[in-house]
Amino acid sequence: MNTLQHFLGIKGLQKELLLKILNTANSFITDDGKAFKSVPLFKDRTIVNLFFEPSTRTRSSFEVAANHLGAHVLNFDTDTSSIKKDESLVDTFKNLEAMHLNLFVIRHSIAGTAELLAQHASPHVSIINAGDGCNEHPTQAMLDVLTIMQHKASFSKLRIAIVGDILHSRVARSQIYALTTLNVAELRIIAPRKLLPTDIDLERLGVKIYHNLSSGLVDVDVIIVLRMQEERNSDNSLPSKAEFYSEYGITNDRLKIAKPDVIVMHPGPMNRGVEIDSEVADGPHSVILKQTTNGVAIRMAIMSLLGNKGE
Ligand code: NCD
Repeated sequence: MNTLQHFLGIKGLQKELLLKILNTANSFITDDGKAFKSVPLFKDRTIVNLFFEPSTRTRSSFEVAANHLGAHVLNFDTDTSSIKKDESLVDTFKNLEAMHLNLFVIRHSIAGTAELLAQHASPHVSIINAGDGCNEHPTQAMLDVLTIMQHKASFSKLRIAIVGDILHSRVARSQIYALTTLNVAELRIIAPRKLLPTDIDLERLGVKIYHNLSSGLVDVDVIIVLRMQEERNSDNSLPSKAEFYSEYGITNDRLKIAKPDVIVMHPGPMNRGVEIDSEVADGPHSVILKQTTNGVAIRMAIMSLLGNKGE
């Protein structure tokens, strides 16, 4: 359990491993919390960012993390690559692998793509999933958990609500697996019926479902707000923005229903005035930018725990 070959999802991972990632991430943050330590574990190695979907935070965060580990980064340009000439993704990947590149970070709109590359990877090559369709976004869930840990006491006392478009959210899936594995006292999902996932057995995981925001927010310690994923709305399940805001938008008034010291999180990108009001996003309960900061430490931790450092 000391080393990982790939990091594809949270589902099925042991609690001890999640705690080890969190502790390792903390060890990369300076004591005053204002910087990351530079540790040259990947000196002169090259890490490949293969992003087939837009990204601001995740891609930059992997690059910053790689730099702190002493690595170079190849930001593979998916728009001008031979994929445009119908080369298969696996062929592209095998050609990059042939250049002695051995750590790949991949984001793709199709669920299972990271797993597919892992199946084709040579034994000395590692794949990190930076989001695959609606399936998982495991590094995001880990940085969210680290942020919760920094602000709150033991997980076993926490009541956490995830609000919004759960159906299309890979972030929510990874968070549900992480938070249930870490045994939070209560995990709630607050969403319209049409935006609940059908591929996870929420009941078996002990997740409580609410359709009414005001009931779901009662006494929660943490609110995780999600964006409506319009780009994945193939089945037209999404309500209008105005409808969503009036039923589920997080406003200062609605925050009063939660615990007085509630923290508000959002993986970004935020749609202000749809799922969250600006006065909440920029207000005293928000830890949204802290999540972004923690992303660097988490990605350093995950890369450092991979067994393959480029041999
Ligand atoms: C999320 C994603 O891409 O899944 N963003 C992120 O990585 N921070 C969530 C989203 O797009 O809404």
